[in-house]
Amino acid sequence: MSDAGTSRATLSERGGMRKTAESLTYMSGFGNEHSSEAVPGALPEGRNSPQRAPLGLYAEQLSGSAFTEPRAHNRRSWLYRIRPSAAHPAFTRTDNGAIRTAPFTDSVPDPNRLRWNPLPEPAPGTDFLAGLWTLGGNGDATQRTGMAVHLYHANASMDRVFSDADGELLIVPERGGLLLRTEFGMLHVEPGHIALIPRGVRFRVELLDDSARGYVCENYGAPFHLPDLGPIGANGLANARDFMAPVAAYEQVEGPVEVVNKFCGNLWTATYDHSPLDVVAWHGNHVPYVYDLRRFNVIGTISYDHPDPSIFTVLTSPSDTPGLAGVDFVVFAPRWLVGEDTFRPPYFHRNVMSEYMGLIEGAYDAKAEGFVPGGGSLHNMMSAHGPDRETFDKASAAELRPQKIDDGLAFMFETRWPVTLTPHAAGAPHLQQRYDDVWQGMERHFRPLH
Ligand SMILES: [Fe+2]
Repeated sequence: MSDAGTSRATLSERGGMRKTAESLTYMSGFGNEHSSEAVPGALPEGRNSPQRAPLGLYAEQLSGSAFTEPRAHNRRSWLYRIRPSAAHPAFTRTDNGAIRTAPFTDSVPDPNRLRWNPLPEPAPGTDFLAGLWTLGGNGDATQRTGMAVHLYHANASMDRVFSDADGELLIVPERGGLLLRTEFGMLHVEPGHIALIPRGVRFRVELLDDSARGYVCENYGAPFHLPDLGPIGANGLANARDFMAPVAAYEQVEGPVEVVNKFCGNLWTATYDHSPLDVVAWHGNHVPYVYDLRRFNVIGTISYDHPDPSIFTVLTSPSDTPGLAGVDFVVFAPRWLVGEDTFRPPYFHRNVMSEYMGLIEGAYDAKAEGFVPGGGSLHNMMSAHGPDRETFDKASAAELRPQKIDDGLAFMFETRWPVTLTPHAAGAPHLQQRYDDVWQGMERHFRPLH
């Protein structure tokens, strides 16, 4: 039986969950063909679908790509489970809460630079799903293009199970540890880690602390993969071996379990008579994983200027145009700055891509204040942005000794399409009203020679 944490988890139960989370073992490697069995002999040998699967289990394929996609992009896993996923009653519509889905047509795309404070405290008993709040996005979930930016703020573990048919979920915790119980096994994430739940994979989020807060990129497009490294060579940025997949773990819950399914923008619910987290063994490459952002190998200049922030790409979701990502996940991790005769913070720029930035901890080197952990900023296509005045003045006068940036961890979801806000994000009380002021009073320094 499961030792599942619930919204009513006592302190000792939560302590037990943390112990469970911290003792988890994983399988290493991005995109690997993994296999795992929680009970010896549960995985069939030499075939996927024997006449009778071992131990009385049901064999089931979960496809993350079309059957016919090229081998390099093909993703599927075989699950050996106590009951087939098909064994469930009809789903019925349920309240979408603050979750919204592309196409985002309820507000006008906004060219302004925008910045938000963290989400307010949720009502007691708010789980991860109820605490999801969509900021905006682009594309069309039914066309499998684009992405959504969500934030979450929860103070209770989920009793229910969730899956998202609309896209994969990249979870970026900012506060509070999470134990993710998935069909494939358990994952532990803390602030500074990321977790990825592939499209359609069922999971439950349990809180390891009193509350949990963070960001989610819902990627409707091609699954995230590691970027090509080009002249960087065979190593660097996020290394494949640091991505960790779970080992098989299952629960046997006989009794009502609510399962929520996000499908084409709406939440649908059904009450199963068992837990669908009942996979005893599996193999394949369509798997959830976690990654510690502090393992990121940061590459930058050792002469002058600094490379474009694409050099900080952890994961990329390609679009149909080479080099033009549907969405990139980019991290600004601790690093040394050594550029000579160089303005070292991020430069002023206007970008054809749209940038949503969040802060996991500390401070970001382009903003002296106002950009806080749990908050976020949106610089839509072609909007002008860069260091605030205080940062500019300081960096322009700084003595250029080698300098360690080690007090912050920021990230960016960078996307090829503008991000349109949900009405609740556009009108949120925690939307900062005077963000433009950070670029006010930039002095005129121009001195013509003649
Ligand atoms: Fe930018």
